[in-house]
Amino acid sequence: MSKQRPPRRSWAEPWKVKVVEPVRVTSRAQREAALVEAGFNTFLLRSEDVYIDLLTDSGTSAMSDWQWAGMMLGDEAYAGSRNFYHLEEAVREHYGYRHMVPTHQGRGAENLLSRMLIREGDFVPGNMYFTTTRLHQELAGGTFVDVVIPEAHDPAIEHPFKGNVDIGALERLVQDVGADRIPYVSLAATVNMAGGQPVSMANARAVRAFADRHKIRIMLDATRAVENAYFIQQREPGYANRSVAEILKEFCGYTDGCTMSGKKDSLVNIGGWLALNDADLYQEASNLVVVYEGLHTYGGMAGRDMEAMARGIRESVDDDHIRARVGQVEYLGHLLDDWRVPIVKPIGGHAVYLDARRFYPQIPQDEYPAQTLAAELYLDSGVRAMERGIVSAGRDKETGEHHYPKLELVRLTIPRRVYTQAHMDVTAESVAAVFDQRERARGLRMVHEPRYLRFFQARFER
Ligand code: F0G
Repeated sequence: MSKQRPPRRSWAEPWKVKVVEPVRVTSRAQREAALVEAGFNTFLLRSEDVYIDLLTDSGTSAMSDWQWAGMMLGDEAYAGSRNFYHLEEAVREHYGYRHMVPTHQGRGAENLLSRMLIREGDFVPGNMYFTTTRLHQELAGGTFVDVVIPEAHDPAIEHPFKGNVDIGALERLVQDVGADRIPYVSLAATVNMAGGQPVSMANARAVRAFADRHKIRIMLDATRAVENAYFIQQREPGYANRSVAEILKEFCGYTDGCTMSGKKDSLVNIGGWLALNDADLYQEASNLVVVYEGLHTYGGMAGRDMEAMARGIRESVDDDHIRARVGQVEYLGHLLDDWRVPIVKPIGGHAVYLDARRFYPQIPQDEYPAQTLAAELYLDSGVRAMERGIVSAGRDKETGEHHYPKLELVRLTIPRRVYTQAHMDVTAESVAAVFDQRERARGLRMVHEPRYLRFFQARFER
């Protein structure tokens, strides 16, 4: 008797592979040596020693043939490159902002924005911190204030828009410090440190109403705003029949400008930009960019890189592309969830986050459970992940004590258009194997701690 055909219809990525890049499979002994050499920090591993690289989705995407073709059309003029105008056009068309200066990547834009708008003693509310964003706010004399909804700090709560801003918390901040001490609301879509969680359109509208009441600007971190738009299409009433491109533009329309790391949504290996609607602010930005990045028509980017980003923006808002991109992340997340591995719920847009607290309850937070888990996963299979817990959170700028974030996570970040479903299977099976051995794990001790953004370069021992 033949088996009954299962009642399912699968989807597949809307692309096929044209070029391949070999990866190396290593032995456990080789990985042990590499990990010790790297001070138990996955940022310090050589990429050649990694089998499946889920460190980050930043700058790790595969470009399309159309983007590569654009690389040959780079106009490498110092001033007024035609590729700059293509990029400006793509930003205007799809994000809707009036003015744009390119930067070498997202943190270059964060530096310019923070220097222009933040004064010593200011407070910058945001829906959860991001490492580089908060550091630039602090370096400019500001204090970051977390105004994300409380649900975002609990990995187990299912909420469709866990990245939402708590409007009550914003109002309390105005009462406490006064609107004139708040240069802007720093709104991130999606929220990376909460697990890739989106902000709803309704919430963006509510933040706009708050900002109008108090004459405060809203600056968007648009790094993964396309993924945010996809979640709005999937989850928010009234948006199911709107395209991701339309949703993105409406969302950005509630804000006054944005910083952008093009290395994520925009499908390029390097680049970013700062966009602004205010003409005077733009004048200041296009002057300041000359100091830190380069002339306002290249901002640290080659002409060819601006062309690749202009084309990447157009590809990134395609509904079929974004469905497959987030769909692959969900595929990995569902496998782990089905096997009862503790992950952040709902599954995020760019990554699956392992909950290291529930993984390793025996390891206290100041012995770095997430750092330990990332190390164990690499040892097991050569899969590289990233710590997003106490090491990433750093120290309080006043007291010098560790920040103790509620979320102690390991991020399995999926590059766009790079890995296959089989890579996801191998990853899930390795995580499950590490989970089965969880009781044996012991924590780490930090033996080298850099001053800024310590997670990148800190070293540990068993
Ligand atoms: N904002 C967000 C939300 C980010 O995720 C990043 C980078 C930046 C800003 C800074 O952009 O790297 O181009 O300077 N995130 C990377 C990551 C590093 O792995 O999540 P950048």
